[in-house]
Amino acid sequence: MVDDEAPPVRARGLVKRYKEVLAVDHVDLNVNTGDVYGFLGPNGAGKTTTLRMALGLILPTDGTIELFGRDPMREGARALDGVAGFVEAPRFYPYLSARTNLELLAALDGDGAASRIDEVLDVVELSPRAKHKVGGYSHGMRQRLGIAAALLRNPRLMILDEPATGLDPAGMRDMRTLIRRLANDGITVLLSSHQLPEVQDLCDRVAIVDRGRVVYEGALADLRRQGGAGYRLRTTDDARALEIARAQSGVEGVSATEHGVGFQADEQHVAALSLALAAAGIGILTLAPELATLEDLFFRLTDEAHGADGAAHDKGAQRLVEAT
Ligand SMILES: Nc1ncnc2c1ncn2[C@@H]1O[C@H](COP(=O)(O)OP(=O)(O)O)[C@@H](O)[C@H]1O
Ligand SMILES: [Mg+2]
Repeated sequence: MVDDEAPPVRARGLVKRYKEVLAVDHVDLNVNTGDVYGFLGPNGAGKTTTLRMALGLILPTDGTIELFGRDPMREGARALDGVAGFVEAPRFYPYLSARTNLELLAALDGDGAASRIDEVLDVVELSPRAKHKVGGYSHGMRQRLGIAAALLRNPRLMILDEPATGLDPAGMRDMRTLIRRLANDGITVLLSSHQLPEVQDLCDRVAIVDRGRVVYEGALADLRRQGGAGYRLRTTDDARALEIARAQSGVEGVSATEHGVGFQADEQHVAALSLALAAAGIGILTLAPELATLEDLFFRLTDEAHGADGAAHDKGAQRLVEAT
């Protein structure tokens, strides 16, 4: 029996080591029912390796990953009841049509999968092209066919590895629409991406991984709040304003940009800085708050995990200003 109380994905202390490479380093994940959960991190962070363990394709070196309370390591294919997806790229016979590929897969899946072929082709909007050979499909069409193949299994959890990567803007928009549709149909989605902007409107909860480690897990909204406000300052003497800001306690990430001085501080310290500038005879032309974009936070988190020094911090602050 599948435990309905158990979360779709729960990883604890998950480790995968390849000789000297620690690809996945004590990862904890909590994907809840109904999440569109983003598993985000730069290339080489360990996303695909983690998803391979989730799908029972490779064994963890240590730790556990459970799907609806079942461990693919102990329970094998049975743990994948209600779970479907693909890592890296879905594979099909290129010289066969999309429909024939799905027929072959449905024969393996059994359980009424064959009767769902028309429906899943429709969901991914490939019905008009179903008779065409997959070899002639675009990358985006192939990704969508991969989702159709996963849907044959009538999953409650869909695991998708970088489904939007390599798509053109229209393909990416179609992919987002499709994933939203899956979520609206009640499917929990775990998707990875190395491009936060691609998926930030899609995901409600995320884990950010870097070099095998989770550096953030939680709601995107909380991450945004955690980023705090940045400010941009233009004065009658930006060079001196920069020095004063750097010397001011509670003012962080001070950097010179072509648009003035960027920094982060809470309101109390912003007020103190404005007084310090006035006392130095510097007039304030603009002092504008700007929210960090999620992409900035993503870079900040992954920079910090690399043991960033002050320079890397300034770089993060620079991006904060440039991106807004
Ligand atoms: N089969 C393997 N053998 C050796 N090293 C691997 C293997 N698979 C992945 N790695 C290494 O593990 C790290 C994480 O890889 P991967 O999970 O593919 O990252 P991501 O999907 O986030 O880009 C990388 O350093 C990669 O080179
Ligand atoms: Mg990968």
